[in-house]
Amino acid sequence: MTDTIASASSQLIGALLSAKDDAITTIAESDKPIDLLRIEVLGPKSDFANFTKQMKSIAPADRQAVGVVINEVKNAIEEALVQTRHPELGTQNSPWFDVTMPGILPPVGHLHIVTQAIMEITDIFNKIGFTRVRHPEVDWDYYAFESLNMPANHPARDEWETFFIDYPGKPSFAKASARRGKIVLTPHTSNGQVREMEKGKLPIRMINIAKCYRRQIDVSHTPMFHQFEGLYIDKDVSISHLKGVFDYFVKQFYGPDRTIRLRPFHFQFTEPSFEVDINCGICLGKSMLPNGQKCRLCKSGWLEMAGSGMVHPNVLKAGGIDPNVYSGFAFGWGVERAYMMKNNTKIDDIRLIYNNDIRFLEQF
Ligand code: PHE
Repeated sequence: MTDTIASASSQLIGALLSAKDDAITTIAESDKPIDLLRIEVLGPKSDFANFTKQMKSIAPADRQAVGVVINEVKNAIEEALVQTRHPELGTQNSPWFDVTMPGILPPVGHLHIVTQAIMEITDIFNKIGFTRVRHPEVDWDYYAFESLNMPANHPARDEWETFFIDYPGKPSFAKASARRGKIVLTPHTSNGQVREMEKGKLPIRMINIAKCYRRQIDVSHTPMFHQFEGLYIDKDVSISHLKGVFDYFVKQFYGPDRTIRLRPFHFQFTEPSFEVDINCGICLGKSMLPNGQKCRLCKSGWLEMAGSGMVHPNVLKAGGIDPNVYSGFAFGWGVERAYMMKNNTKIDDIRLIYNNDIRFLEQF
């Protein structure tokens, strides 16, 4: 403000500045809602509005200087209103607020490990002509056991810690149930074998990937898990085809360092049968860790991954296929276990996969 400003203008400026101080005091002391308070200090009947109206009587030469003061006073009152009620917002009017600062990125998710593994497994088998198929995850006892050469009460069934489920007592269910038994949460993907054969198309090259359920929980078991089941049926299929497919899969999925071994075993639905082991990805087959402790996951350097074998003639017959003309192999592997054994995952407890802890999941 300079001496050239007329005294009327100086008086008005003085009045505006004291109106500002009064308004700020009123705001600080009042507990009225902010909207009412704004009307009181800035509305048409406020001191501020009264003084602003006097602008008309100010000499044109002084109007700009008075206009600047009016704006400053208004901004100061506005800021006082916001500051007292929302102190956290006040920074918007402060010179320190940097509008060019980068914002906070929203978190970006990705597919769950198991989904990633299923996609990768599907791709690997697609390349050698296996098609992904889907079969029920809640199924009749017939497909899960009976058709797989495991008649009712056969002791071999004990291996699958099966969940049986109740179903509505409708007459249609009772009729089907008389033929196909109870309903189970599929304890393995082998229920897809006879279901696939019933489609009536040969040769069969299927990869059935689905949820499975067993009453087990520890470092290497969860009550719900996934399996991928391969089934190949054609003329002249032999064990060397089975071995060739495993070799191909292990090299593709794990890389050149990982190996498998076949151990003779028994399954009711394959003959001969094998268990497939893979060298452990944590201790790399040594069973000891560099710190001298025993490997928590495998204990022996090898991990049981899969069951496999040549499809039993009774299973082919159940699927309407002549075992004198056709033969085939089948295998069932755990998806989670297959993934855990990859070189770079180092997951030593399968339950982590389903704990839904983002700090864990975002690493993969
Ligand atoms: N279904 C068997 C299991 O869950 C694995 C298996 C599949 C074995 C196919 C032989 C043939 O243990």
